Amino acid sequence: MKNYLSVKDINSLPNWIDEAIKIKKNPTKDKELGKGKTIVLLFFNNSLRTRLSTQKAAMNLGMDVIVMNFGSEGWTLEYEDGTVMDKGKSEHIKEAAKVVSQYSDVIGIRAFAELKDKQQDEAELVINGFIKYATVPILNMESSVGHPLQALADAITLSEQNTKPKPKVVLSWAPHPKALPHAVANSFVEMMQLQDMEFIITHPKGYELNTKITKNTIIEHDQNKALQNADFVYVKNWSSYQDYGKIINLDKNWTMTLDKLGSAKFMHCLPARRNMVVVDAVLDSNQSLVIEQANNRTYAAQIVLKKILESL
Ligand code: CP
Repeated sequence: MKNYLSVKDINSLPNWIDEAIKIKKNPTKDKELGKGKTIVLLFFNNSLRTRLSTQKAAMNLGMDVIVMNFGSEGWTLEYEDGTVMDKGKSEHIKEAAKVVSQYSDVIGIRAFAELKDKQQDEAELVINGFIKYATVPILNMESSVGHPLQALADAITLSEQNTKPKPKVVLSWAPHPKALPHAVANSFVEMMQLQDMEFIITHPKGYELNTKITKNTIIEHDQNKALQNADFVYVKNWSSYQDYGKIINLDKNWTMTLDKLGSAKFMHCLPARRNMVVVDAVLDSNQSLVIEQANNRTYAAQIVLKKILESL
C-alpha cells in the first residue's frame, strides 16, 4: 500500500480487523519489520491519541519515530506554484516535502480543516502537497475531510463489541462551543458504508454532512426516534457544512444522556466536552467504549503501518 489517506484504501476490512485483533494479542510480533525504518510524524494541529498511538504502533513494529509540531515549530509553507514569496510564507511545499522524505520511510500528516473556506479545505493543500512532492508513503493522521485511522479503530472496536448479525449504529450530532471539522464524522460514515449494519445519522436541520459522503444513508432529524433500539451510539459534534464552519445550534437537548442511550454502547473519538457533548454519567458508565476506542488507535495504526512497510 503506497498511502493510507482514506478508508477507501482498505482492501479488505474484515481481514484488516482480524489482523488488528491478532496484533493486539501480541503487539511486538512484527518487531523486525520496521527495523532500520523511520516514520516522521508532522503535526500541524494538536493531538493526544493520534500522536501517542501512532508512535506506539511504529515502535511496536521496530521503527524509529521522529515527531515534529510543524504548526508551531516549522516554517510557514507556501502551496501555490509560481508565487512570489514576498509575504509571510517562508518555505515551499516542494522543498519541504522532498527534504522530509530524505529523513523518513513514511510520513504521517495531521492538518485539520480551517473551516473558513470550504473549497480551500477540500483541496487538502497540506496532505495533497506532501502526496505530490514527497517520495515516501503518506499516512493521514486527520486531514480536512477525513480521519481514517480513527474510523479503523472504531471499526475494530465495533467488531470486538458487537454480538448481533446486523447491529443498529447511530451517529448522533451533539452541541459543542467551538466550530469543529467534519473529518471524524465523514470517515465514520464511510466506514459504516463498508459494513452490513443498520446505520442512521441524526442531527438538527442545517447540520447535513457532505451528501457526496452520506450518499443514501438514512438521516433522521428526530434524535429520540433515531436512537430507538440502537446497539451503538457514536456521538460527535461537527459545524455546519452548508453554512460552512458555522455553529448554528447549541441545543443541549442533543447532549447524550443515559436516558437517551438506553442499553446501547456509547462511542466517541475523544476529546469529549463533558456535560456538553455527553453527560458524566454516560462517560463514566460501563456502556462507554471511549477508552477501548482510544486503545484500538494503536492497533489501527499498526495494521496500516504494517501494510505500508510490507509494500516498501
Ligand atoms: N481522536 C483523536 O484523533 O484524538 P487526538 O485529536 O487527541 O489525536
